[in-house]
Amino acid sequence: MIVSDAPLPVVRSTADLRAVVDGWRAQGRSLAFVPTMGALHEGHLDLVREAGRRADQVVASVFVNPTQFAPHEDLGRYPRQEGQDAALLAGAGCHLMYAPFVEEMYPDGATTTISVGGPAEDLEGAFRPQMFGGVALVVAKLFNQVRPDVAIFGEKDWQQLAVIRRMVRDLDFPVEIVGVQTARDGHGLALSSRNAYLNEDRLAIARRLNGVLAEAAAKARTGAPLAAVEREAHAALLRAGFDRIDYVHVRDAATLRSFRSGVAEGPARVLAAAWLGTTRLIDNMAV
Ligand code: PAF
Repeated sequence: MIVSDAPLPVVRSTADLRAVVDGWRAQGRSLAFVPTMGALHEGHLDLVREAGRRADQVVASVFVNPTQFAPHEDLGRYPRQEGQDAALLAGAGCHLMYAPFVEEMYPDGATTTISVGGPAEDLEGAFRPQMFGGVALVVAKLFNQVRPDVAIFGEKDWQQLAVIRRMVRDLDFPVEIVGVQTARDGHGLALSSRNAYLNEDRLAIARRLNGVLAEAAAKARTGAPLAAVEREAHAALLRAGFDRIDYVHVRDAATLRSFRSGVAEGPARVLAAAWLGTTRLIDNMAV
């Protein structure tokens, strides 16, 4: 059943989703998929527009996935604005919104999990140990439900993108994964649903994060020792006003391992997570 048709069709069950998708398939149409947790901003809409360039039909999911939040994290206060999300998706060229209830995604008695390793192990994985298992589980389920030809993810969550790419390779999902460059505000702050938690003062500090990362990336590119680059970036973030830094590291862009030689060799990425009050921001940049 399509629960709403304006501004775009919305379905809540896998059966209803499949009814629409199977119709498109029967007409030989290709399908791109954009998974989201809602509270959409321009960054998400870039993903939807990219999806529209890559396939005939675009499905976006809006589901705040409980399995990727630890009990002390912000699941309860994560912004929810389904009506507004539907309007934004429609405007960006999405054809169907899939907004399942929690019981649809995780029926009573669901016990199967996905154990991720490799690129999931460190960085976010060290600070949010439940997260990538939860992300992999929900994304695997969504892929099985939607069965897209191509799925679009933001580079803002660079490690998540690496984990999904690895899962798709390891578990042979027949889907192409595409990463889209991070959307930023006029000050370079990476757009994030969590920016809504920041007051004006904290927003001004948050806007310094990308500059610090750009500087670290530039130094790493010259072959500077990464331990020093990371130490300087850490100090610069504290000076900028961040309350706490979980990490600032330069890593191999695909495996997210550190470089044994202590200098950046081959494609690398500088990645950081830092706190302003109770809000945790992440960002990353190419070296
Ligand atoms: O990046 C996100 O918004 C989420 O982690 C995702 C991929 C939609 C899974 O819940």
